[in-house]
Amino acid sequence: MKHIILDTDPGIDDSLAILLALASPEISLEGLSIVHGNCSLAQATTNALSILELANATHIPVAVGCELPLVQPSLLAPETHGNTGLGYAKLSEPRTQPTRRHGCDFLIERIMSAPDEVTLVAIGPLTNIALAIRQEPRIVNALNELIIMGGAIRYEGNTTALAEFNTYADPHAAHIVYHAGIPTTLVPLDVTYQCVLTQRDVDRLLRLDSPLTRFIADATRFYMEFHDAYQGVQGCVINDPLALALTFAPELCDYQELPVDVDISGGVSLGKTIGDFYNYNKKPANMKVALGVRPRDFIEMFLERMEKLAQKTTQ
Ligand code: RIB
Ligand code: CA
Repeated sequence: MKHIILDTDPGIDDSLAILLALASPEISLEGLSIVHGNCSLAQATTNALSILELANATHIPVAVGCELPLVQPSLLAPETHGNTGLGYAKLSEPRTQPTRRHGCDFLIERIMSAPDEVTLVAIGPLTNIALAIRQEPRIVNALNELIIMGGAIRYEGNTTALAEFNTYADPHAAHIVYHAGIPTTLVPLDVTYQCVLTQRDVDRLLRLDSPLTRFIADATRFYMEFHDAYQGVQGCVINDPLALALTFAPELCDYQELPVDVDISGGVSLGKTIGDFYNYNKKPANMKVALGVRPRDFIEMFLERMEKLAQKTTQ
């Protein structure tokens, strides 16, 4: 059993990652720490609580983290995720509250109380994790593994021509986390942009009429409109669920150990993630980078688990 904490900015694809975690018996979701990103921290917190209620999982603690990046001004993504962060989906106001602990304190507490047991899956900007490392450096050695959805190595950016959103939103936090020394797997756009959920996939889910499948359809309909309008993609790229899936199905991807850096020099390439394939800088590899993926194996697994979760939550 893998013990997972998700650091997340829900967000449409984040919500699918949360649902996949709840639908996967191989893992135990120990909590959500919330970070700014796809929408405001307050909205992301409400969304997290509502998604857990939708999936009858209100026992999962939600801890509110950082509202702003370390240095950069706030960058949100309403064009991608809608003003509520969940596209066209309308969830009821949550009846539950987040924990009183700050997200960084929650991360430190949970990681230090179970050395070598927690796998941290970061699917938003890395602000919370960077600050937690600065506050309690011992979490670096106490973490079992860190899986980061972020970056674009040999792939174009989705926020600037070069940079991916989670990294560009807080490049200074990414720099701290990338060089902290935690056993890290990076899941960049190179692989996530091959994982496209299509309308046909969503129609398959809708054959099961339930609040959960209707939520997925309404949330992804907005996301598909964005992908078509901005990038000509027919469907929507589900970045965050792929990162989560690697906690229990690492064989979905192929990896290369690489020295990876992130540009914080502040110019046109701010937030660009750089894989030094020929090790020009003579540095040791600081992470395992997913550069190959079996997209339809992943999408099929995702759909099967959403169908099972929908059946379970409708009963
Ligand atoms: O670039 C994609 C990433 O940025 C995903 O995690 C998405 O949810 C946004 O946070
Ligand atoms: Ca995200």
